[in-house]
Amino acid sequence: MSAPRPHMVELRDVHLSFDEKKVLDGVSLEVEPLDRLVVMGQSGSGKSTILRLILGILRLQSGSVFFKQFEISRLNRRKLQQVRSQIGMVYQYSALLSSRNVRDNVALPLEELTTKSREEIDKIVDEKLALVGMLDAKDQAPSELSGGMKKRVSLARALVMEPELILFDEPSAGLDPVIATVIDELIISLTESSKVTSIIVTHEMDSAFRIGTKMAMLYQGKIIEQGEAEAFKNSTNPVVAQFLSGSTEGPILEGSKDAIATK
Ligand SMILES: Nc1ncnc2c1ncn2[C@@H]1O[C@H](COP(=O)(O)OP(=O)(O)OP(=O)(O)O)[C@@H](O)[C@H]1O
Ligand SMILES: [Mg+2]
Repeated sequence: MSAPRPHMVELRDVHLSFDEKKVLDGVSLEVEPLDRLVVMGQSGSGKSTILRLILGILRLQSGSVFFKQFEISRLNRRKLQQVRSQIGMVYQYSALLSSRNVRDNVALPLEELTTKSREEIDKIVDEKLALVGMLDAKDQAPSELSGGMKKRVSLARALVMEPELILFDEPSAGLDPVIATVIDELIISLTESSKVTSIIVTHEMDSAFRIGTKMAMLYQGKIIEQGEAEAFKNSTNPVVAQFLSGSTEGPILEGSKDAIATK
């Protein structure tokens, strides 16, 4: 009998604290190939922390994080860098280098992680910039771009290594609603056409349900609910229901209401 296929990503009972503060308290999560998993949760709940664990930037205290067959938390530096090149990351604030123009920002992973020639790199960069509709801005500096344009460039940069997995941290934060929808649709079309699995962190509900094929809710250090988007929408979990409705009535603010009231 052949071994079962590994998940694209798996977190198993992950615990992580910063100093005294417990952020992840037994997080378990599975992501299958071609899923677009939306992770939602309150500000400060640990969403970006989960993405950083998958990238191997942070170390956990106990539990395991797998990307395919690789246990990220156990790889040595060299192997981690190799594995990480198969994961694209789109950061919340785009994280483009201000000293490099658009072309050179997108080329960066190829220059650092491959031995490809200048011609090969140029070809890939042009192709990815065309995919996100930014080829004309190739020579511009990041400071000359709008927030939505920066996101597109950041997306092109995440694509150049032909990753199997892309992590998006708040892809539509800070964008106007129309551009946010454009970015959402770009994420859907690119992940579908390139057959990429993705994890998207967001607290914009419209965006979450537009993009996500699956949903997971992080609350008090645990994934309290996960499932298909449709089932998630009808969740009877009071925390999920409150989060989706944005209501102030429910368990989420309990205990902090008094604190807010006395401010
Ligand atoms: N390097 C660090 N050192 C100390 N504390 C940290 C560090 N990184 C994150 N934290 C803390 O861990 C908690 C979770 O942070 P994280 O950035 O994962 O939240 P988040 O869910 O992404 O929030 P947001 O929606 O505001 O981006 C926060 O309380 C934060 O202050
Ligand atoms: Mg965050």
